[in-house]
Amino acid sequence: MSQLSRSSGSLDDTPSTPGKFKPDKPSPYIHRLRFHNLSKFTFYSAFFLAILCFFFLLSSPSGSNPRRSLGSYGGSDWERHVTRSARRRSDSGMTVLVTGAAGFVGTHVSMALKRRGDGVLGLDNFNLYYEPTLKRNRQKELQKNGVFIVEGDLNDKPLLHKLFDVVAFTHVMHLAAQAGVRYAMQNPSSYIHSNIAGLVNLLEVCKSANPQPSIVWASSSSVYGLNSKVPFSEKDRTDQPASLYAATKKAGEEIAHTYNHIYGLSITGLRFFTVYGPWGRPDMAYFFFTRDILKGKVIKIYETADHGSVARDFTYIDDVVKGCLAALDTAKKSTGSGGKKKGPAQFRIFNLGNTAPVPVSELVNILEKLLKVKAKRLVLPMPRNGDVKFTHANISLAHRELGYRPTTDLETGLKKFVKWYFKYYKEEKKKISAW
Ligand SMILES: NC(=O)c1ccc[n+]([C@@H]2O[C@H](COP(=O)([O-])OP(=O)(O)OC[C@H]3O[C@@H](n4cnc5c(N)ncnc54)[C@H](O)[C@@H]3O)[C@@H](O)[C@H]2O)c1
Repeated sequence: MSQLSRSSGSLDDTPSTPGKFKPDKPSPYIHRLRFHNLSKFTFYSAFFLAILCFFFLLSSPSGSNPRRSLGSYGGSDWERHVTRSARRRSDSGMTVLVTGAAGFVGTHVSMALKRRGDGVLGLDNFNLYYEPTLKRNRQKELQKNGVFIVEGDLNDKPLLHKLFDVVAFTHVMHLAAQAGVRYAMQNPSSYIHSNIAGLVNLLEVCKSANPQPSIVWASSSSVYGLNSKVPFSEKDRTDQPASLYAATKKAGEEIAHTYNHIYGLSITGLRFFTVYGPWGRPDMAYFFFTRDILKGKVIKIYETADHGSVARDFTYIDDVVKGCLAALDTAKKSTGSGGKKKGPAQFRIFNLGNTAPVPVSELVNILEKLLKVKAKRLVLPMPRNGDVKFTHANISLAHRELGYRPTTDLETGLKKFVKWYFKYYKEEKKKISAW
């Protein structure tokens, strides 16, 4: 508990609310107050704080309100939620900390682990990169299934230590990150905050945990950058990133190697290829194309400089989840303890793709068919915004070592996505009109 009262001591204290986060500039008014009327300012601040504390204490201390119990960590009620969620059904199961649990992949992986009897605890900072209600609704789904998400940031070292004090995690499934390729040009620091500083902070805590957990984490197909040799193999070069996002994922792979080498952490990196499906990410093309086609809005389809098509190795979420679980199941134990390496530890990297790239124009054809609406297409040359022309995974290594075998083609997967989309937004509309 004493850790909780200390200041965070994190590597980077910038709040991770990408997009919406703007550092406060002191207003001239505050400035004047600071120099000319400090005591008055202090008095009003104290008064305001006292009122805030009063209302805070008045609110129910029970865990029935998820937002309140998640927002403030510590205390017996909070610990009960944490331990209950992390409890596995049998001794042979795992106890997994899933970071980014309110995210798209994190929600599906957490649900799958819980369903088969593993103990799961989520961690997410619920940042505002995309619709916060979607993250909250995923959280509700997980809660219904017995998965509790601690609301906190990867960079909060005392919180992470606290979680490892309360639960002896056997595994960490690290999915929290600032995702999105194009957004890196708008808010580069959010990528450093989550994908670099946050990763190092997590690895620091894992390395000194006793026992050390085995770690499986999400890298990305974007590390292949401007490579033109296809399909992309794990043996190919990854030193030509086309975006800051890709560069942070590549850096993550190198950082992971360092922690494996020095501290004996067992680490597996998974390079996901354009994952899609129900509860997906609204910033991804298949999702916002669906929304815009239904609204009758023009959708932009990019082509290469020589009028070639841009293609992606779209991978259905259930296939990716199977790959994640297989990586956890085959992960060997870390060899260190309390920050000291005792021997060499496992270090792996796998592609998790579908190995069947589809041009984006074909994605739109399928959506038109499923939505029964003609898209208003605007074909444009690809801007230099971090996107690459194509992705295509060689998955033979994952097949050999993880038994990974994707089974969902794009049309089948999109059908499931569209079904979810209609149901989800119908419910959301109902909720809004009931207000
Ligand atoms: N979805 C894809 O197509 C794809 C492709 C390649 C790689 N990936 C990687 O897979 C992982 C999961 O992706 P996703 O699609 O579920 O993304 P997502 O944005 O839906 O999920 C990431 C979650 O992490 C949380 N998060 C971000 N920074 C955090 C921080 N500092 N502390 C705590 N929580 C934080 C976010 O709130 C979010 O809920 C990410 O690492 C992403 O980079 C995804």
